[in-house]
Amino acid sequence: MAVLLAGGAGYIGSHTAVELINSGYDVVVADNYSNSCPESIKRVEKITGKTIKTYEVDIRDSQAIEKIFVENDIDAVIHFAGLKAVGESVQKPVMYYRNNIDTTLSLLETMSKYNVKNIIFSSSATVYGEENPVPYFETMKRGVCTNPYGWTKAMMEQIFEDAAKADPELSVILLRYFNPIGAHESGMIGEDPHGIPNNLMPYVSQVAVGKRECLTIFGNDYPTADGTCTRDYIHVMDLAAGHVKAVDYIMNNNCVEIFNLGTGVPYSVTEIVQTFEKVNGIKVNHVYGARRDGDLAECYANADKAYEVLGWKTQRNLEDMCRDTWNWQKNNPEGYGR
Ligand code: NAD
Ligand code: UFG
Repeated sequence: MAVLLAGGAGYIGSHTAVELINSGYDVVVADNYSNSCPESIKRVEKITGKTIKTYEVDIRDSQAIEKIFVENDIDAVIHFAGLKAVGESVQKPVMYYRNNIDTTLSLLETMSKYNVKNIIFSSSATVYGEENPVPYFETMKRGVCTNPYGWTKAMMEQIFEDAAKADPELSVILLRYFNPIGAHESGMIGEDPHGIPNNLMPYVSQVAVGKRECLTIFGNDYPTADGTCTRDYIHVMDLAAGHVKAVDYIMNNNCVEIFNLGTGVPYSVTEIVQTFEKVNGIKVNHVYGARRDGDLAECYANADKAYEVLGWKTQRNLEDMCRDTWNWQKNNPEGYGR
């Protein structure tokens, strides 16, 4: 059975490719490398010992992606292909709407043409917006998003739901990720952000490796136990395993389902820094600074549904996440060197 990974050379796609191959699936990767490079897939090949068919293609280009459906017997698609930097989406909203929405429409149109009826989508906890109380349940309504990136996710969820309503044979799984961090245990693949990282963990590890001088912790006056924001950090390999369970499920069920992929356990920014330092025996210079616009004090999942329906739950703890992040960073101080 072949699974098309749209945006599969990226951080989550590459880790998911490993888990799918190890579970017996064939994968085909399509990516325009706008935020990744072919090296990640070469590393996945090394880890798994399997050759992966890859296409360098913009997923928005319906004609170009048709070739993939003609040349391969695709059973399911996982749609990772998207732009994901929250701050950049505020600066360049049209680029975000164009890329994220168009990739979705092209995939749906082409799937329909080639009678492919299963799609899994990389959504985000950001769609719960500001109004819903934590923990977030899948039954809650989508909220008011705080930035264009979040809106693209909310809109794409709606598009998938509408498409499935119109075509009852189309199965859709919307996976709402919380905060993926960590790397494959081998240290051969991991997160490789361009330029200055926006997200906490790559920033922490770049300070630890000496690439950046000091981490600023954004705000310590939030109504949380230590005053810093809490998030539901999830090991990227647990997240990858969640995708395998979603593929298993969608291949056997005609469904439209939403699943939170998180641990259900929030940790604060200060706890992340302290755990990283303790597990890896290394200092992370940090200072407390002003709040960052748009940050919620708390964000964490109720992860029961994924366990009850998919039989999935996380296996790795915060120490594993910090250790594996550092293992990747110290072995690859320049990431993939792109
Ligand atoms: P990533 O940037 O590493 O991977 C996305 C991949 O999509 C990249 O390889 C990029 O080159 C590719 N891509 C983007 N636009 C494309 C296009 N038009 N055509 C072909 N390829 C294209 O990001 P990631 O962290 O692996 O995230 C994967 C998905 O999960 C994204 O949709 C993201 O929004 C979503 N998500 C990520 C997080 C997170 O914290 N990492 C949280 C929630 C949701
Ligand atoms: N943080 C710092 N300093 C930094 C970077 C982050 O203190 O240099 C803090 C933030 O203020 C926040 C926490 O670390 O409290 C986590 O921030 P991230 O940027 O790593 O993650 P977010 O929770 O803001 O956002 C992530 C994804 C988004 C997604 C959102 C909700 O990056 O794509 O989760 O799912 F929309």
